[in-house]
Amino acid sequence: MQVMADATGSLHHLAAAGGVEIAGIDVSKTLTSSEKSYILTLFADHPILVFRDQSLTKEQQYKFTRNFGPIEELHVGRHISDDFAAVHTVSNLDKDGNPSDRLSEHGNYFWHTDKSYHDVPSLLTMLHAVTLPPSGGPTQFANTERAYAALPAATKQRIGALRAVHSWEASRIKSGSSPATEEQKRERPPVHHPIVRTHPVRGTKALYLGNHSSHVLGMELEAGRKLLADLEAHATSQPFVYSHHWRQGDLVMWDNRCLLHRALDNYDMGRHARVLHRTVVRGSVPV
Ligand code: OGA
Ligand code: MN
Repeated sequence: MQVMADATGSLHHLAAAGGVEIAGIDVSKTLTSSEKSYILTLFADHPILVFRDQSLTKEQQYKFTRNFGPIEELHVGRHISDDFAAVHTVSNLDKDGNPSDRLSEHGNYFWHTDKSYHDVPSLLTMLHAVTLPPSGGPTQFANTERAYAALPAATKQRIGALRAVHSWEASRIKSGSSPATEEQKRERPPVHHPIVRTHPVRGTKALYLGNHSSHVLGMELEAGRKLLADLEAHATSQPFVYSHHWRQGDLVMWDNRCLLHRALDNYDMGRHARVLHRTVVRGSVPV
């Protein structure tokens, strides 16, 4: 196992967002304890880990994910397959299994951090590329820890104690997706989290916001929304962003505590399928 040398420009961009590519580990197999601690050590410093040339069944992905904590079993508003429910499919396929550019779910195309509408949001997410369009359809990652560090001291001071309201309902409205149902609103009432959270492993601070965030507690609604939008624009500006151009077999695992991410719809979604298998590990209450 080894961390790849910076042979291509894309590794340079990966590094700019704090990520690293790992070769030499077949994650479909039960990890040895040294492989596991190697991955955990890398993940403590690198919020994006890219494993190339993997081929995992859903069960194998489930088992690999279990190494990193409790798996989220419930995914609101997402298609859950019957065969391995905790490993679900992210795709542009309609209910008949055909590629479609008319889906009513758009949330993934907006910068977000997974499940920040929960009291206990996600620690990490893994996507495994199963079917890819001939080109396009990358996932972008923005490093909100580096973005926070680059803020002027006065801004850090101003936002240091602020909390943002995050909600499934607001997220659906912001992304123009089909509205939250009454049941979803009951099950996922709004929560609030600090705008600046401290990484539980590194102790570093990162911006915590994105499409699931709605407004700022104690601030006039529009002013709070503008603040969140301004901070998001800063965090997702070019120096902090890595675009992952998927290759068949990639498995990417990322830290939701210090990254925003989104998918790009820059491929012919009505013609080409893009299918990834997804697992999510539950995190801790942001502080
Ligand atoms: C996700 C997600 C983006 C993508 O699975 O959480 O946001 O590129 N996916 O599919
Ligand atoms: Mn996501």
